[in-house]
Amino acid sequence: MSKFVIVGGNKLSGEVRVGGAKNSVLPIMAATVLNGKLNVLHDIPKLSDVIIMTEILESIGCTVEREGTTLSIDSSGLNNYQIPENLVREMRSSIIFLGAILARCGKVVISYPGGCEIGPRPIDLHLRSLREMGAKIVEKHGFLFCEAKELKGTEIQLDFPSVGATENIILAAVFAKGTTTIRNAAREPEIIDLENYINAMGGKVSGAGSATIYIEGVEELNSVEHQIIPDRIVAGTYLAAAAITKGNIFLNNVIPEHIQSILYKLKECGCHIVSKNNTIRLEAPEKLIAVDSIKTLPYPGFPTDMQSQMMALMTVSDGISVFIETIFENRFKHAEELTRMGASIKVDGRVAIVKGVKKLTGATVNAKDLRGGAALILAALAAEGKTIVEHGKHIERGYDHLEEVLKSLGANIKYLK
Ligand code: UD1
Repeated sequence: MSKFVIVGGNKLSGEVRVGGAKNSVLPIMAATVLNGKLNVLHDIPKLSDVIIMTEILESIGCTVEREGTTLSIDSSGLNNYQIPENLVREMRSSIIFLGAILARCGKVVISYPGGCEIGPRPIDLHLRSLREMGAKIVEKHGFLFCEAKELKGTEIQLDFPSVGATENIILAAVFAKGTTTIRNAAREPEIIDLENYINAMGGKVSGAGSATIYIEGVEELNSVEHQIIPDRIVAGTYLAAAAITKGNIFLNNVIPEHIQSILYKLKECGCHIVSKNNTIRLEAPEKLIAVDSIKTLPYPGFPTDMQSQMMALMTVSDGISVFIETIFENRFKHAEELTRMGASIKVDGRVAIVKGVKKLTGATVNAKDLRGGAALILAALAAEGKTIVEHGKHIERGYDHLEEVLKSLGANIKYLK
């Protein structure tokens, strides 16, 4: 079983370059099926989710080559509209192929992705929207059979600004007849990156980053070269690692505007932060101050993907903090593990109350999901003695060379695959 072994207590200091955003890379990799031509993507992190996405693309006839951090995806050989079930099961976000393959082939068969570690993750908004655009979708034996001779531009009102549903609609609408309007769309920076990528190959998307997005259908798309935006959650996690170890860190290739809500909370904890151009320097205080409350919200609110890392910080802060998780139902699994390390946390449904303690102590803990696992790594870096974080493979889904990066900052960490 893969595990991280960490001996805590070292202050982290140094410089880190933040790589491309996982949540931008995955939908853009799915979108490469659209043009039926060459796609050159830069700053692609080495993550297990990227490997699964690559396997899916290869299984449907695309060729994918990696050279360093550049991926070249040629989708001219696409010859299959059925996504292998085992790969969909491994990565829920493969549901993003629904819109992309439907747009390119007029048909797609994909297994129902089901729930995951952080709770049930329905796709009703994806399906309803595609049906409104004229897709026929039959759900049987755990599979979705979708067909649309022609998708039609229409007005779509989302009940909730779902990131995945917004992306699926954009992809489906690229070749649709007429204009598709998405209202109450997700406003995450990754949606803007998708818009930029599609427009760079000749698509007509506008409004991304706001709550209303327009997609005008086009007939054809060209080859494209695109640079992925930096990963705001990876940036936030490394800032948190410096904060919890009383260290100081300099991040480059980061877009401070994308992480304002995180920086705001880190400042509230007593961290000194200077952001300039595409860099951020953080100096941690000797003792973190508890923030009153952290409520996760769609962007530009505080991201659910940083909730667990902030909770790790609050376990050793001075005071009491309240966490309110409004995005996912089951996203406090790390709380129980942090408690094994000496944290004082009470969870009641979507609320967790954290009372800062003097110190955490090393223990054997279990990474149950990607970001929860990252939180355990942070706690371990600050804890007294040795911590073993089991099921490290969850963390590989979202952090490129985590062991090396933390080592370069002075951490005592080993990753046993
Ligand atoms: C994306 C991110 C994930 C992040 C999440 C919220 C990727 C690959 N993943 O996930 O890291 O944590 O956004 O910022 O980009 N919902 C429905 N019906 C739907 C779709 C969603 O009820 O059809 C609900 C979900 O159950 C959840 C909420 O909406 O409670 C948010 O989900 P969504 O924004 O769709 O997240 P993902 O796209 O899955």
